[in-house]
Formats: sequence, structure tokens, C-alpha cells
Amino acid sequence: MTSGEPVTAADLVVVANRLPVDYEERPDGSVGWKRSPGGLVTALEPTLRAREGAWVGWPGVPDVDVEPFAQDGLSLFPVRLSAQEVQEYYEGFSNATLWPLYHDVVAQPQFHRHWWRAYTAVNQRFAEEVARVAAHGATVWVQDYQLQLVPGRLRELRPDLRIGFFLHIPFPPVELFRQLPWRTRIMEGLLGADVIGFHTDGGVRNFHWLAQELAGASPDDDPESVHYGDRRIRLGAFPISIDSKHLDEVSRASEVVERAAQVRRELGNPTKIILGVDRLDYTKGIDVRLRAFHELLEEERVTVDDAVMIQLATPSRERVEHYRQMRDEIELSVGRINGEYARVGHPAVHYLHRSLPREELAAFFLAADVMLVTPLRDGMNLVAKEYVACRHDDGGVLLLSEFTGAAIELTSALLVNPHDTDGVKEALYTALTMPPEEAAKRMRTLRRQVLDHDVDRWARSFLTALGVQVDA
Ligand code: ADP
Ligand code: F6P
Repeated sequence: MTSGEPVTAADLVVVANRLPVDYEERPDGSVGWKRSPGGLVTALEPTLRAREGAWVGWPGVPDVDVEPFAQDGLSLFPVRLSAQEVQEYYEGFSNATLWPLYHDVVAQPQFHRHWWRAYTAVNQRFAEEVARVAAHGATVWVQDYQLQLVPGRLRELRPDLRIGFFLHIPFPPVELFRQLPWRTRIMEGLLGADVIGFHTDGGVRNFHWLAQELAGASPDDDPESVHYGDRRIRLGAFPISIDSKHLDEVSRASEVVERAAQVRRELGNPTKIILGVDRLDYTKGIDVRLRAFHELLEEERVTVDDAVMIQLATPSRERVEHYRQMRDEIELSVGRINGEYARVGHPAVHYLHRSLPREELAAFFLAADVMLVTPLRDGMNLVAKEYVACRHDDGGVLLLSEFTGAAIELTSALLVNPHDTDGVKEALYTALTMPPEEAAKRMRTLRRQVLDHDVDRWARSFLTALGVQVDA
């Protein structure tokens, strides 16, 4: 996979907490790289490969020293984190403070000063690495909530750079953000960028207000800009997407179509297959959909011959307490539903706690009659778009939470409030019984949206706002 030397003075640098690949020590003692989890990598990897950029990020395991390397057109620059930093900066401040706070406090955020100190130190290290790698006048695109101090630090180190920042998760309502003891420092860090991007207009509005309140920024005639010091900073909503055309092609491949048919056979040819695909995260509302399915079985409105549910869950942040608890709860629910409703050889819920290859995932999407995407809160949710991109047959029904960024674009999905169990249950029943003509009509509209608004369009619009010349 490795090819050539990494460029050492790059014109386009992406910096994210993780590299697009995670370092892996295999049971036989060999080492290698595997794809990193999450939507950020899904979106950015094709974009950056096409532009032959550099990517600065953590290799996904503590205490490993890896030299920069090149891989399929990308130059990768690993940033080392110690075990303590992983605990305090990544599991702590990023994923037990910021993650729950920014996701509407669906779990209680924890505020610890030593976590904040680790966050500042690690952000400084990322900024220094970028400052070393970026060519004079280069464009640097900083990603996500783990690195909100990087734009400010980088501007101090390298005023020649053009700096963009994109937040992949929701930017919270003003009242929630104000809980953060280090709120002003975070705002100042972000305001080091020239362009700050969010998924939705709501994020832009929240940020616009807080920049003035907390950091003394002043408004501009343009409601999507603020002045900070002697600079004008552009804010904007840039809804992220996927490489839709590529996924559409993958799902049309004969092996994928055949595998989808095989999945159905292996499940015992149920009338309907219901699917959930997520990182195992408490924001994703996996419990919500299990409850809705459980109640439909209880009420005998569906049986295991009518409908089988599959939940594919990528392991995620397994050392963070909320994640452990949630995994236990979900596995308990799956066990309970199967205990009550499965027959030998016919589980009601099939639960796989692992990450699947892209082609295999496409086959599951193609096989699924109903796709359940029920987060309590989600910045975008790319799984919803991936499902649509795979349905070249115009089949399948997407049931989608209103509290995802995707719901703003995918209005022909069955939209649900995940806090309303009855509402989700009724929508699931509607999806299972929807006439095929109505389902196909909805899916055609969804597909137009997803195929037209792909990740390349997202990247171009952000980079154009940043003043980068983007090829036609
Ligand atoms: P997040 O960024 O919070 O993880 P998204 O829905 O935006 O959420 O992106 C998740 C990405 O991870 C998608 O590209 C999806 O296909 C992938 N993914 C989720 N679960 C699995 C799984 N079990 N196997 C393989 N890929 C998965
Ligand atoms: O945008 C959500 C996000 O946190 C990304 O930053 C990340 O790539 C993905 O989810 C997966 O999370 P983690 O890197 O913590 O496994």
C-alpha cells in the first residue's frame, strides 16, 4: 500500500485527530494499517486523495512512533500521543466533555481541569506538526472538535497560512456551550481560522452569537461573517456528504448484488429486513429502534417471519464509561428480544459488534427493506446517505431522525422524533407496510439529492470559500 516518499512541503494539509488509517498490531505479531472508524474519514479520504494532499493525525494507538509515509497519493504524518494523553485528551476532554456537551447533553459532560490541560498540550503539538509540514502560503484544513485550538495556535506559528476549520458534529445551543469552563479559549482558538464551517445554519447562528459574546468579535454586514482583531472571518453551513457515485457503482457490482440476495437467503427469506449501521455510540439511538421493534413484536403486529432486524455496530471509544454502559444495555436488549421472540435458527435481532468491509456493507444496504437511522443528535449522519446511494433499484425505505443534519436534506425519508417511542414504532410499521410505488417515489427523490450533493461538491464549496482555486 505504501508508495513513494511523503511530500514535506505540502500545499494542502488536512489535520484531524485520526489519520485515515489506524496502526494495527495483529495477533501473529505483524503490523499494518486498517481503515479508521467514522464519518470524517469516509468523507475526507476520497477528497484528499484526489488532491494529493498531506494528512496530519494520530495513528490510533498510544505510544507508537511512526515515520511519515506515503499511501496511494496521500502523504501521512503521524502525531504521537502517550497513553496518558489518549486518556485525558481523547477519551476525556474530547469524548467525555465535548462530545456529550455538543450532542445536546444526551449524556452528562464531565469537566476536569487536567483533561483541559492535556487538550491544550496536544492541540499545540498538532499545530507544530502542521507548521512543519505546510509549504509557504499553504492551505490548512483543520477538522473537528478534538482540534478546536489548532487554528489559533497555527496562526501564531505561521501567519502565512490560509486556515479553514470544519466541525463534523453539531455546534451546540448557546446555553449549553456556555457551561464549558474554557468556552472563551475555545472560541478564540476557532477564530484563528479564516473560514469556519458547520453542517447547518443553526450551528452558524449559535457560533455567530457566541463569538461576539465570549470573544469580543463584532458583526459584519454579511450575517455569515464576523470581525475578529483585524481579520474578517467567514462562517458557513457546508453539509457534508459521501462519494455517492462511487458507492452507487459499488452497489451495482454483480458480486454485491449477489451477496445481498445471499444475505436474505441466509436470514431464512424474511418478508422484510430491517437494518441499523452505526458506530456503537449512545447518540445514535440504537436503543430507540430496538424498543420500537420489540413493541411491534409484543403487540403481534409483526412476527419474526415477517421481519428480521440486523444491527451492525462498529466498536467505538470502548474505554469511555458511557460507551461501556451503553454497550451492555444494548446487548441486554438484544438478548431479551431474542429470548422472547427468536426460534432456533431464527433470531429476531442479528447483532454484529464489528466493522465490515465497504462492499459487504453495500450488500447489507441493498438487502435492507427498511433502514433505521434514529440518533438523538447527529451532526450529519452519513449512513443515511450511504443507504440511499446504494439503492440503485429505488427499493427500500429510510426512516430518519429529525435530529440529524441529514434530515434537513433528506426530507423524503420518514422523519421521526427519536424521543417519541410511539412515533418511531408507528413509522417503523408504516415503513414495513409501505406500498412499493410510494417507497420508490420517495427513494428516487432521495437519490437525486444524494447523487447531486456529493462529497466533492462539499469539499469544493468549502475550499472555494477559503479562497482556494478549485479545478472545474
Ligand atoms: P460518525 O461519524 O458519528 O461515526 P456517520 O454516520 O457520519 O457517523 O459515519 C459513520 C461511518 O462509519 C459511515 O461511513 C459508515 O458506513 C461507517 N460504519 C458504521 N458502522 C459500520 C460497520 N459496522 N462496518 C463498517 N463501517 C461502518
Ligand atoms: O465526526 C465524528 C467523529 O468523532 C470523527 O471526528 C471521528 O472520525 C469519528 O467520529 C470516529 O470517532 P473516533 O475517532 O473517536 O473513533
